[in-house]
Amino acid sequence: MLELRQIDKVYNPGTVREIGLFSDFSLTVPKGQFVSVVGSNGSGKTTLLNILCGSLPPDSGQVLLDGQDITRQKEHLRARRFARIYQNPALGTCAKMSIRENMALADNKRRRMNLRPGTDRSRLPLWRQMLAELGLGLENMMEARAGSLSGGQRQALALTMSRLTPVDFLILDEHTAALDPKAADIIMHLTDRMVRESGLTAIMVTHNLRFALDYGDRLLMMHQGHAVLDVRDEGKRRLEMEDLLRLFNEISVECGN
Ligand SMILES: Nc1ncnc2c1ncn2[C@@H]1O[C@H](COP(=O)(O)OP(=O)(O)OP(=O)(O)O)[C@@H](O)[C@H]1O
Ligand SMILES: [Mg+2]
Repeated sequence: MLELRQIDKVYNPGTVREIGLFSDFSLTVPKGQFVSVVGSNGSGKTTLLNILCGSLPPDSGQVLLDGQDITRQKEHLRARRFARIYQNPALGTCAKMSIRENMALADNKRRRMNLRPGTDRSRLPLWRQMLAELGLGLENMMEARAGSLSGGQRQALALTMSRLTPVDFLILDEHTAALDPKAADIIMHLTDRMVRESGLTAIMVTHNLRFALDYGDRLLMMHQGHAVLDVRDEGKRRLEMEDLLRLFNEISVECGN
């Protein structure tokens, strides 16, 4: 179980650019839950993920993992249990290395031989098989540099790399936003399969309301550091696009947009 307990976060305190984002914000995500997070620009979604992953400390409050306080645990230590995929496909893979070397890097991370791209040839068939499952032909391009791939191919590679590391949490920040609709669908489908097959706990930030409705067990809508909507299971299944859009518009009007 992942828990944020009474989090406070203020950016630029004491300056004219002070932004009080989170005040007494709490969130509990049970093991195996897939949470979609939507909300307008600047509502605090990325900050929430940064606090969870340890990229940013909260001013006060706690981050708990299975009841253990990890608030001060360094990001690189948390990375053993958290895989994070960003909007920019370039961030999850190493451009200068080949697909094979990127897969080797992820595989070595699993074995704690960090950051050595050396290939264990016996693993090659497994990597090819995992890539073949994507249906994008990447298994036939093992020596191509990741930097030469399209955004969708690269995001698919990043996700497949995270499958090699036995993480418990998948943290996705608009990971389909830079992709064309077909690639976005493929990546979304792959994400869902990964979460289900590996029993991951996932938190997915997205501006795609359709994805947020169709995938995941729970939907959060953030607004100015608050969850203005939090529905799960049956409540989420009953939620229609119209309801979601109406709420979104109400919030925007309130903000004067
Ligand atoms: N490092 C920072 N320093 C100062 N202010 C920040 C910083 N990061 C975020 N903010 C501010 O905090 C607020 C929330 O930002 P955040 O990136 O969490 O929003 P978001 O919901 O992810 O938005 P988007 O949908 O645009 O990605 C914004 O007003 C933003 O300007
Ligand atoms: Mg963001």
